[in-house]
Amino acid sequence: MNATMPLEKTKHYPVMLNQVLSIISPQRGGTYIDCTFGGGGYSKAILKFPGTKVVAIDRDKLTKKHAINLEKEFPSRFTFFQEKFSNIDKIVKKNLNPKAIIFDLGLSSFQLSDQKRGFSFESKNLLNMEMGINEYTAYDVVNNLDKEYLANIIKFLGEEKDGKIIANKIDKHRSQKPIQTSKELSSIINSVKKNYKTYKKNPSTKTFQAIRIFVNQELTQLIEGLIEATKLLPHGGLLVVVSFHSLEDRIVKNFFKLHSNLKRNPSRYFPITENKSTFFNLNLNKPKRPEEKEIKENIRSRSAKLRYGERNNNSFFYPIDFKDQFINYLKFEDIRI
Ligand SMILES: C[S@@+](CC[C@H](N)C(=O)[O-])C[C@H]1O[C@@H](n2cnc3c(N)ncnc32)[C@H](O)[C@@H]1O
Repeated sequence: MNATMPLEKTKHYPVMLNQVLSIISPQRGGTYIDCTFGGGGYSKAILKFPGTKVVAIDRDKLTKKHAINLEKEFPSRFTFFQEKFSNIDKIVKKNLNPKAIIFDLGLSSFQLSDQKRGFSFESKNLLNMEMGINEYTAYDVVNNLDKEYLANIIKFLGEEKDGKIIANKIDKHRSQKPIQTSKELSSIINSVKKNYKTYKKNPSTKTFQAIRIFVNQELTQLIEGLIEATKLLPHGGLLVVVSFHSLEDRIVKNFFKLHSNLKRNPSRYFPITENKSTFFNLNLNKPKRPEEKEIKENIRSRSAKLRYGERNNNSFFYPIDFKDQFINYLKFEDIRI
């Protein structure tokens, strides 16, 4: 998708929608939680099946305009909350018994293409990158965060090997005057990359990813969201997650690996013993990927990975081991400006 397209011309593609529907089987009716409502693609598709109800969540207040239409069309079957999905337990009744809880992570095409929000490299508006319900903006991070922290955030949340060099360059610029726009930030980052015009992807991609993740505390949100969703799911309920980059997928993969029946057995000759530390039954270890046809139509889907599991009957306990695995990310995102 061209990140500079005007908002009204943005075509909205719900990523891997057919695969999601074939996993969650809405034709049998039931209640679904759509944790990342966005343009409402998943919610709308589920509501087409008569016996269904959808509880939808999105932190972005601009998604309300899509939600209002669905509230009018399905007043008794659709409810929307502008909230962060880590707070799902505060919104949803404990006895809701959802058939599936679905996460389609990251940004919507509407957010990406809205110049005012500053997610695109070309944006000439004030640096922002907020998804909604934030404590600070990209402007605060780029201009006020301590240089060492900035370098680590770029290095670890962006997986950018030049994190330190980029942070030094940003620091040099901001000491003269504040960095105002995404376009300005992108040209500062690109100036440390040799032959940047020959790069396939914009050389600022990884740094922008890091700053966006930090501004929105996206990894903390994902870790807490998976835990809270697991707490809410009844026996047989499905947890379905579509992720778009390696940090997100690592978190989802490890959660299922630690807490599913696919947890490695010490030896293949050992019987598979019942393990009370699992929450999910999984059919496959590998993620599902979009079909070629979808990738051709919507290039953004090319990096999507879908993982899902079915909740077993074991009681919920707080999965502290899982959180401990990602303690560094949690600490990074907890840094205050
Ligand atoms: C990729 S879009 C979802 C698109 C949606 N599946 C559709 O078909 O239209 C992701 C959405 O999730 C929202 N989001 C991301 N992180 C969130 C969080 N922690 N809590 C609530 N919403 C979140 C974003 O604001 C964005 O609107």
